[in-house]
Amino acid sequence: MKPSSEDGTGPDLLLLLAPTGRGTLRRQLRESIRDAIRGGRLPSGSRLPSSRALAADLGVSRGVVVDAYAQLSAEGFLSGRKGSGTVVAETGGYLPKHASDVLATVERHRTSEIDLRPGPPDLRTFPRTAWAKVTRDVLRSIADADLGYASPWGVEILREQLSAYLARVRGVMSEPADLVIVTGATQGMTLLVRTLYAAGVGDIAVEAPSNPVQRQVLTRYGVRIWDVPVDREGLDVDVLADTPARAVIVTPGHQYPCGMVMSPARRSALTRWADRVDGWVIEDDYDTVFRYDKMQVGAVQALSPARVALVGSVSKSLAPGLRLGWVVCPPNLVSDLRMAKRDDDFGSAVLEQHALARLIDTGEYDRHVRRLRKHYRKRRDTLVTALEREVPDAVAEGYAAGLHLLLRLPAEVIEEQYVAAAETQGVAVLGTAAMYGTLPPRPGIVIGYGRTSPTMLEEAARRLAAAAAAMGQEQRARSVRDGQAIARRRPSTAVDYF
Ligand SMILES: Cc1ncc(COP(=O)(O)O)c(C=O)c1O
Repeated sequence: MKPSSEDGTGPDLLLLLAPTGRGTLRRQLRESIRDAIRGGRLPSGSRLPSSRALAADLGVSRGVVVDAYAQLSAEGFLSGRKGSGTVVAETGGYLPKHASDVLATVERHRTSEIDLRPGPPDLRTFPRTAWAKVTRDVLRSIADADLGYASPWGVEILREQLSAYLARVRGVMSEPADLVIVTGATQGMTLLVRTLYAAGVGDIAVEAPSNPVQRQVLTRYGVRIWDVPVDREGLDVDVLADTPARAVIVTPGHQYPCGMVMSPARRSALTRWADRVDGWVIEDDYDTVFRYDKMQVGAVQALSPARVALVGSVSKSLAPGLRLGWVVCPPNLVSDLRMAKRDDDFGSAVLEQHALARLIDTGEYDRHVRRLRKHYRKRRDTLVTALEREVPDAVAEGYAAGLHLLLRLPAEVIEEQYVAAAETQGVAVLGTAAMYGTLPPRPGIVIGYGRTSPTMLEEAARRLAAAAAAMGQEQRARSVRDGQAIARRRPSTAVDYF
């Protein structure tokens, strides 16, 4: 007998499509299946009814079901197996109850169907099998004593592995003793800021624009913040030199959010500045494992290990939820940094540290990252091509690297309105206005493409074009109301606002 998916029977499935519900039938069906997967009603491996059977059950045309299945397959929720129909993908149904609740809450608060805000990577790529294996190996092999209070600055084996790994992939110059294992780049930066502040460094510069979290950390510790602009080559070191700052937080490997890589000239100017002012550079190396076009550029730390503290984590390469990161610390700061970590939490979780050490040691981490580069590269290429096609005046800035790009908007666009227009189209993006500190912001949006399938990225580009067109109409209407002549001068196309 043929599998039931082909013969029109198939498993029963409760899916509610309200005739008066919001959105098209296709959209309702998609959401209904997605909710059933996220909510755990349809665990991984569950077989779905054939498109014919489900269409008959729901009283809709078969094309509606075929489209919904295709869309959810593109998003990674479903997979089709030849001869055995459509099933919930391995990774599709894994979200535990509480995670799906969080997602549901986020989705309720933001009506957006496509969330392009930057942040977490594609969590479906977490190497569950490899992580389970190294964890099992660790549990089998570590001594009872290793489960006690380990060294608060990190277990030795991980510091050894990371020191060698970072030398290999980032050119970082360190001894294992220079490393402090932290819960992520955020804790690394926080501890460094605290340590420097205690050592009398009360003025710290940041890039403008930059990750707003940094400003929060600096503000909390009473540090005076100096905003230094970035240009094509990265942080403007001449402007930095005009400030009283004796430390600076930079993202030279892939500027956040603009995406450029700091030029060689600026790198050496930066380390010369640090020598001149007897200062420090905090190098936020948050996503540099993902470079898609050329060979990696090494870390600035390699130019001046005595002046540069490099912070990094596995938040982009594995999962932010692991809360595992590192600081490669200048030798004369390391004992203070160790004490700061000890005072904070007495060290990070031991089992995860051993597991990561083993993942690196077995080569599995490298293999995983290599696979991810392909995965994300495809997403980035798809998005860039779709943006060029759909919104031809848009300028996607930044190197082919990391998990985000900056879409530069024309100066006349009011960023906040554009973000709202995109949200109306069901696309959540992040504006950059809050990232400039005291400097005048330039309109732009950050698009995180890591969590969205290529199909949905294409759809997102279409919707961003629609958002721009809608803004165009709104602006023209306002212009007419105000008695201005803008509407007559400008054609009513989406490109007006890009
Ligand atoms: C620029 C930048 N730095 C640092 C971080 C912090 O990452 P974590 O604390 O998870 O390592 C992020 C997170 O997205 C980031 O975007």
